[in-house]
Amino acid sequence: MSEIAKLTLGNETYELPVTTGSENEKAIEIGKLRGESSYITLDKGFKNTGACKSAITFLDGEKGILRYRGYPIEQLAEQASFLEVAYLLINGELPSKHEFETFESKITGHTLVHEDMRAFFEAYPRNAHPMGILASMVCSLSTFYPESQDPNRAPKAVELTIHRLLAKIPTLAAWAFKHSHSHPFVYPVNKLNYCENFLHMMFKMPTEDYEIDPVVVDSLNKLLILHADHEQNCSASTVRIVGSSQANLYASISAGVSALWGPLHGGANQAVIEMLTRIEEDGGDLEKYIAKAKDKNDPFRLMGFGHRVYKNFDPRAKIIKVSCDEILNKLGVNDPTLEIAKKLEEHALKDEYFVERGLYPNVDFYSGIIYRAIGIPTEMFTVMFALGRLPGWIAQWKEMVENGEPIGRPRQIYVGPNKRDYVALDKR
Ligand code: ACO
Repeated sequence: MSEIAKLTLGNETYELPVTTGSENEKAIEIGKLRGESSYITLDKGFKNTGACKSAITFLDGEKGILRYRGYPIEQLAEQASFLEVAYLLINGELPSKHEFETFESKITGHTLVHEDMRAFFEAYPRNAHPMGILASMVCSLSTFYPESQDPNRAPKAVELTIHRLLAKIPTLAAWAFKHSHSHPFVYPVNKLNYCENFLHMMFKMPTEDYEIDPVVVDSLNKLLILHADHEQNCSASTVRIVGSSQANLYASISAGVSALWGPLHGGANQAVIEMLTRIEEDGGDLEKYIAKAKDKNDPFRLMGFGHRVYKNFDPRAKIIKVSCDEILNKLGVNDPTLEIAKKLEEHALKDEYFVERGLYPNVDFYSGIIYRAIGIPTEMFTVMFALGRLPGWIAQWKEMVENGEPIGRPRQIYVGPNKRDYVALDKR
């Protein structure tokens, strides 16, 4: 017999259906509550509200589990390529060898961006944040492909838009970086794989050869996989909600890029390095910064600590911490920031404040140190996150469209003034 939740409000009892997920997650469906009573539910920040049923990513915050389409993140990060994971997230299954080769060659066929878009870059100030440029450029793609305007169009057209996004965003991201350094843009080279191509466009200079280091390629591949999806987070929810108005996929992804930018979300990777550098420059007094983070009158927070869902550990952070040591060793990089990060983690994890609140390092705590070691400048960190998260956003958008989800439109409890009469300007 299916489970029913009973809610009593005054003299009325309402029966609400309970939905169970494939990992035995339970939800009380409150959709009909509004029709049968005058009540809505209120849950600021959607802390305990499910917005959809999804078959893409499963995570258990208490046990520190993260799986894409059922596959443990540990296995994917160790063994898969980022494009394989992108295929998995978007299509639901791992590709066969033939399917993968077809997918890869379709993406490779779209890595160039329209030459007219070069002019857009010229107009941005050199010190413009690359996330601002990326969000605008992704939205601008929609103007070059007007057939992308209708999200209900033929599956082939949707597929083409998906390939274009996966192919062109690395080019746009690398060009945003080149622009900020006043360096000439580097065009994609299609014999290179996805990660190699991105590194080539970032670091090749016309004056010298650029040899792609396989250690750097591997670490980039792993970081992109670890960031590829994270179910209904702030940016994925943004993509779904913007897409639910039937805005096109480029516009929806552009909104996701903007949502990711904030320091409480993807912008944390930049904020972590800025925080660690500040601590280092200030003499490395960790206790001082831990005390600041605990002080409710001080806006300072330990960036890279805490997570809405993980209250035990973030499995991505565990993988990244190990990789960080390995990669720095392999590259022969000695970064004092890593030592500060490790000591800060050690201090915080012994502190009652952090233990009580279940505050652990999240995915962003160590990722910036790896990005820095492979030559990515700090202001590009969140762009790297966006590159990784792109397949997740696409998968979330596609699922939302295919499930025929209604437009996202929350309710509110109005707490403003009651009705009052207008008074003319000269009488106020
Ligand atoms: N430093 C100090 N205190 C913290 C921190 C932190 N990093 N994070 C949470 N807390 C405290 C809060 O002050 C609050 O304390 P209280 O109960 O005494 O009021 C308690 O822990 C719960 O925190 P909330 O902010 O209510 O938790 P929420 O789920 O809303 O926020 C978030 C999660 C935004 C990630 C938060 O932990 C944070 O700001 N972390 C730092 C930024 C960061 O690293 N963001 C990246 C997240 S991962 C990602 O998006 C990819």
